[in-house]
Amino acid sequence: MITPHSRRRFFFLSFLIGLVPLTSAREAVAGGGGGLPKGRSIQHRYRAQQIELLGHNTFNGSNRKAVDRGAAPYFSSLGRRFVRRVLAATSRHHVCDMGAGNCVFATELAGLGGRVIPEWPFEEAIKQLNDREASQIPHVSAVTYKMDHDYVHEGKKFQLLEGRLFEDIPPAKLKAKLGQTKLFFEKWGVLAYTHDPTKVLRKLCAAAPVDFEYFVEAGPRHWNVERQTMSGDPKPPRSSLHSSTVKLRDGRVLTFPDWLRTVKGLKVTELKVENGGALLIRRDPRVPLDIPKLRLINPPDESGMPPHREFLER
Ligand SMILES: C[S@@+](CC[C@H](N)C(=O)[O-])C[C@H]1O[C@@H](n2cnc3c(N)ncnc32)[C@H](O)[C@@H]1O
Repeated sequence: MITPHSRRRFFFLSFLIGLVPLTSAREAVAGGGGGLPKGRSIQHRYRAQQIELLGHNTFNGSNRKAVDRGAAPYFSSLGRRFVRRVLAATSRHHVCDMGAGNCVFATELAGLGGRVIPEWPFEEAIKQLNDREASQIPHVSAVTYKMDHDYVHEGKKFQLLEGRLFEDIPPAKLKAKLGQTKLFFEKWGVLAYTHDPTKVLRKLCAAAPVDFEYFVEAGPRHWNVERQTMSGDPKPPRSSLHSSTVKLRDGRVLTFPDWLRTVKGLKVTELKVENGGALLIRRDPRVPLDIPKLRLINPPDESGMPPHREFLER
């Protein structure tokens, strides 16, 4: 007789020897009803998938732009407040790109990449970037899982955190590398891709000074709005962090940015940016930090950028 127990055993053993695809095995382990996956092996599968995506470094982009963006796209996604912070930085400041791709913007910031071509509407800001003297150039850290080339080198004011997931970097190393960094930012970086946002935020808060600022591209709130061009051609859905969700313990489902706003000890401000949206994450020093653990409950959909992830708050 086929009992639910024997059915689960069959699917689990089949999964182990590769007879059925991951999804059917996962559903069977979860009880056949599309429930939650249990056990480390499934979490490990997700990890392999994450590492494969970051390792290929193409991010489903149709061209290399997904890892080669410079000042103008960063300014446009993160907004005017971010531009002011960048231009106000001096050689006494430390900044960190939390998802630097091939480090195009990071090297521009560090004054290593030659003159940046001014692009509308940031001609003035980029001119200021180009005209900085050494005393106006900050220390730059770049977090990236993999670069496509080896012609960016660490120097006195430029360091790479490359080759491992941010969430896997030991706390002491992070403290040593980022202990003075007050300005963090990402254009589809670690927070947009990680399977463990709790670990990322806990580690960042433990390493950075309490008055850090973390600018994060979030994209539009209504992530699947289709854009119409003047000619009426529909464009593909726009990317957004709002496409990732968190199911709370009481069953409510929030978008990932809205969940961030519920975290005790963080202050999360939504920034108005012309073609999307950004978040500014800070510590609220009056409130003890309490970031609930999140668990992935389905394989992330990585067909778009950033991936669509579903988490459960534990
Ligand atoms: C889509 S690319 C964007 C690159 C760059 N911001 C740009 O726009 O050109 C994502 C970047 O985030 C990095 N990244 C994402 N998740 C990461 C993680 N958990 N740990 C380290 N790096 C991560 C990737 O390695 C890559 O550098």
